[in-house]
Amino acid sequence: MFWSTSVLLLGLAHFAVSNPLVSKRWDDFEVKHAWAEVPRGWELHGPAPSDYTFDMRIGLKQDKFDELVTALYEVSDPAHERYGQHLSKEQVATLVAPHPDSVNLVEAWLLAHGLDTTSSSRSPAGDFITLRVSVAQAEKMLGTKYQTFRHGKSDDYVIRTMNYSLPSILHEHVAVVAPTTYFGTMKSMKATSFIQEGAPTIENDADFAHLLKDPGSLATPPSSCNTVITPSCLRTLYNTANYTPKATSQNKIGIAGYLEEFANHADLQTFFSRFRTDGAGQDFTTVRVNGGGDDQTDPGVEANLDIQYTEGLTVPTPNVYFSTGGSPPFNPDSNTPTNTNEPYLDWLNFILNQTSIPQTFTTSYGDDEQTVPLDYATTVCNLFAQLGARGSSILFSSGDDGVGAGDCLTNDGKRTKHFQPNFPASCPFVTTVGGTIRVNPEVAVSFSGGGFSNYFARPSFQNTAVSTFLTKLGTTNAGLFNTTGRAYPDVAAQGQGFQVVIGGRVASVGGTSASSPVCPYATFAGVIALLNDFRLSEGKAPLGFLNPLIYSTGATGFNDITSGDNPGCGTNGFTAGTGWDPVTGLGTPDFLKLQSLIG
Ligand SMILES: *[C@@H]1O[C@H](CO)[C@@H](O)[C@H](O)[C@H]1NC(C)=O
Ligand SMILES: *[C@@H]1O[C@H](CO)[C@@H](O)[C@H](O)[C@H]1NC(C)=O
Ligand SMILES: *[C@@H]1O[C@H](CO)[C@@H](O)[C@H](O)[C@H]1NC(C)=O
Repeated sequence: MFWSTSVLLLGLAHFAVSNPLVSKRWDDFEVKHAWAEVPRGWELHGPAPSDYTFDMRIGLKQDKFDELVTALYEVSDPAHERYGQHLSKEQVATLVAPHPDSVNLVEAWLLAHGLDTTSSSRSPAGDFITLRVSVAQAEKMLGTKYQTFRHGKSDDYVIRTMNYSLPSILHEHVAVVAPTTYFGTMKSMKATSFIQEGAPTIENDADFAHLLKDPGSLATPPSSCNTVITPSCLRTLYNTANYTPKATSQNKIGIAGYLEEFANHADLQTFFSRFRTDGAGQDFTTVRVNGGGDDQTDPGVEANLDIQYTEGLTVPTPNVYFSTGGSPPFNPDSNTPTNTNEPYLDWLNFILNQTSIPQTFTTSYGDDEQTVPLDYATTVCNLFAQLGARGSSILFSSGDDGVGAGDCLTNDGKRTKHFQPNFPASCPFVTTVGGTIRVNPEVAVSFSGGGFSNYFARPSFQNTAVSTFLTKLGTTNAGLFNTTGRAYPDVAAQGQGFQVVIGGRVASVGGTSASSPVCPYATFAGVIALLNDFRLSEGKAPLGFLNPLIYSTGATGFNDITSGDNPGCGTNGFTAGTGWDPVTGLGTPDFLKLQSLIG
């Protein structure tokens, strides 16, 4: 008897180890993420209808992510023998695939909740599982309550939670579940670019555009560029005027667009006729992601601005406008199913599923880092690392509130004053672009976002640049920012007074009364796309993840901006000076210098 019992026990123990699923309890919850207060700008609207359905995304831990990061740095470091040997979609998928144990456990958990895992959709690497659930189901799975929240400014409604939990066994296998505690939506984050009524506009820039045809005749832009920016200003200022793209059959630039923001084809032609006559007849293509629209009767200010300036700098390079849906937006009074209605995961999963992707991407979403849960921010930042490993350069705006807007209180329940870094600007795997204004000399624009992440540690590529700055800074702003965090912006470009054609008319586009930056990221992306054209035309790989290059051999290819600051949070913020600074980074691009450095 003794003998048979111990065999039985041994057998059971073995069974439990090799089948951890059988004996698992799915109700010993541990908190995954919790907010102390409702994220700024949002308010509680009411309970979420329990029969309401939505697409839940489960991000699994990527088993070999460290190897992906190693590969990313090697292929992006001009001093490394692997430089330029970017990874294929399949190679990336191998490194970001979850461990089989993670897949098995998560599937067992889903089955235990009566969910049909065969009807879920998987990302190519299997690191994201998407499936439709009801609010009631999600609440049971995550030990939480969903509620309806309203964004005051944009009148957007979302279903989110103040906190969520996972069975303790899943914590080491699941990176993030969405939608849960990340509130940002495309609408709530939409940059506030407005037509500046009364600001100077010009109907065309023929008076100096013709000078650009004669190489060398226009060394510096005319003083009109102090207030009115056209492609000719930028092409002169950043030295791209004499470069003719040659690799247009391979090279592409991608612009990620907003919900309900459409780039207009007719306006682009008018723009060419006024400001880039040799572009006439060139056009962009629109790719609709996840139900994104393309209403040509409703030109978007931001969308037109982005496309007109990427085209204005890179024509005839193919420009692709990605119109990402997310619609229908959640309507608290109806029961239409919606997807997660958030700006990153749908778009990134779509792009990463393509075998061939544009070599340069630009977009202007952004939010206070502290309003993005750490698990969510890390997941999104890691997706940008995948794009970099595949050979794409990713450009983001550094934000438009200097070191922070308003009182800059932390949302951890302590409400202490702290500079407010911006995400994704703070992700080390993207290149972050600050803003400048005026020419001869160019200076920092006062709203240029800049600072130090509280989530991501300072990457080694910027160690020297940032520690040199911190030494000079001394005790200024001490305690208001995290000296060990990833510092940004990396670079800068013009940020205001852009002449844009909207609905057939030229308008000067700028920000609100406080002024928000226009598209330094689109301008910078245009210069990078031309550098990629040069590399491709020489039979070389595109630049890919830019940061290791620009902080090393590329650093002398920038015009150092040494004047201006970025006030906020009741302080003067940081001050631009010689070398890298958290206002304008390494400075604005000099195409000719960069071309010779990357050749
Ligand atoms: C990825 O692309 C393939 C081929 O276009 C498509 O069948 C599949 O549904 C896509 N997967 C996802 C997760 O989007
Ligand atoms: C989660 O949120 C609910 C509702 O807001 C709250 O009652 C509960 O205390 C929170 N739990 C944690 C762990 O923060
Ligand atoms: C400062 O940044 C580091 C990452 O470099 C992070 O681990 C730490 O929590 C941050 N400190 C605060 C107070 O946010």
